[in-house]
Amino acid sequence: MKKFYLTTPIYYVNGRPHIGHVYTAIAADVVARSQRARGSDVLFSTGVDENSQKNVEAARGAGKDTQAYVDEMAVLWQETFRTIGLSHDVFIRTTSPQHSTAVKKVISLIESQGDIYLGDYQGKYCLGCEAFVAEKDLVDGLCPDHHTKPQMIKEKNYFFRLSKYRTALQEHFASHPSFLEPASARNKVLDYINNELADISISRQAQAWGIPLPQDPTHAVYVWFDALINYLTVTGYPSDQAKYKRYWPANLHLIGKDIIKFHAAIWPAMLLSAKLPLPERIFAHGFFTINGQKVSKSLGNAIDPLGLLPEYPIDSIRYYLLRDIPFGADGDFSSQRLHDRHNADLANGLGNLLARVLKMVETVAPSLTSSNAPTPSWAAGLQEKVTSAIDTLAFDKALQKIWEVIAQADQLVEKEKPWQHAQGPGQPHAQATLHTLLGALKEIGVALEPLLPGTSQRIKTSLATTPLRKPLEPLFIRHA
Ligand code: MSP
Repeated sequence: MKKFYLTTPIYYVNGRPHIGHVYTAIAADVVARSQRARGSDVLFSTGVDENSQKNVEAARGAGKDTQAYVDEMAVLWQETFRTIGLSHDVFIRTTSPQHSTAVKKVISLIESQGDIYLGDYQGKYCLGCEAFVAEKDLVDGLCPDHHTKPQMIKEKNYFFRLSKYRTALQEHFASHPSFLEPASARNKVLDYINNELADISISRQAQAWGIPLPQDPTHAVYVWFDALINYLTVTGYPSDQAKYKRYWPANLHLIGKDIIKFHAAIWPAMLLSAKLPLPERIFAHGFFTINGQKVSKSLGNAIDPLGLLPEYPIDSIRYYLLRDIPFGADGDFSSQRLHDRHNADLANGLGNLLARVLKMVETVAPSLTSSNAPTPSWAAGLQEKVTSAIDTLAFDKALQKIWEVIAQADQLVEKEKPWQHAQGPGQPHAQATLHTLLGALKEIGVALEPLLPGTSQRIKTSLATTPLRKPLEPLFIRHA
């Protein structure tokens, strides 16, 4: 059986999940479900990045002990992901002992190559980014993403010889054209590798929170250096070699465009140094804004996905996010667009089609079943089209293909008007039309499985009920 290992970033727990976090996770969920439907042995991981100084500050702000705080937040994130129906196989926490073992092992491999050394560091550190920021990237002295003034830090740090891997990274990019997509991300990272790549500090002196650096426990491992290794920990590395060998390298790391440098330059260099295989593919999606501003905990404008749930089913939120913003591009989150998409495409479009067809079957052809319904020519090949769109992470195209079939089905209903032929000479033809429509709905139900799993399940259940009846509950309730 083919394996497929895919990951989301691990999330800082200094706040509740917002729509931007959930976006990556939903996209990964679609890919995981699509792979499972094809029979792949899927390992889909997500989780939380707990060793960050941001979490320490959030705990302090909440008047809590850091460990108690991250324990609580990890539960909150897990519950949120469960409530929105994510199908991840693993939820990793970086304060777990397994993770610490993996980090120590990777660091020892890197050290054995002579790639770790002690040096002095002086630079400006943005806590929001958990990274040193270059003077040239600041806007009016502030971090452009977090609108905060970075802190000047001068201390003894251990360094990773990142610069040693410039040529190897360049070669890897040249020989693996789809290693990092989309092209905008690739160009940015290549520019960084070609022009800026320098050794990075991988430890923080006198930092009490974090994984102690094995060669000098007075230092904590720099949070990004630890966090990236989570992708290995999930596979059982280093203790479960069989599992590790089965799943590593990852087939896909899904990330946001703000963290491409870490994933596509630093992480591969760490793996090259440790002589471990590189991930196959990294894909960076764009950023949501709300009224033109980055959604962020620090800016206080985040949308809590659970806040939307009482009003919209999760499939409406999935549909809106996946359909309205091409994956890879930036987009603005608009509750008006969510409302319009929900009403037009889901309640009036898909929901109405299912209800109408089943109602007509009930009155015109009550003995019809969907099991032997023929697939009309205009719905043929839908699964393949949807699958290949998902493989290129073009979720909007996958949904478009399905909605093209819905539009064809609507046209057929309007053209043939089967409801007018409950009796009389037109009845056999009306029955045949309805059978074709059932065939189309069956295809739609299957194609929707990875994208809108709850809806797909309800369509399948409705079509499998005998005798066929209009469902009591509409698929989607129209909003005023
Ligand atoms: N902890 C690091 C990742 C470590 S992975 C080894 C981190 N965490 S985060 O919580 O700040 O962000 C996690 C993910 O959410 C990133 O992919 C980020 O790009 C994504 N998003 C955060 N805000 C977002 C938007 N407003 N829009 C889209 N995605 C956003 O970075």
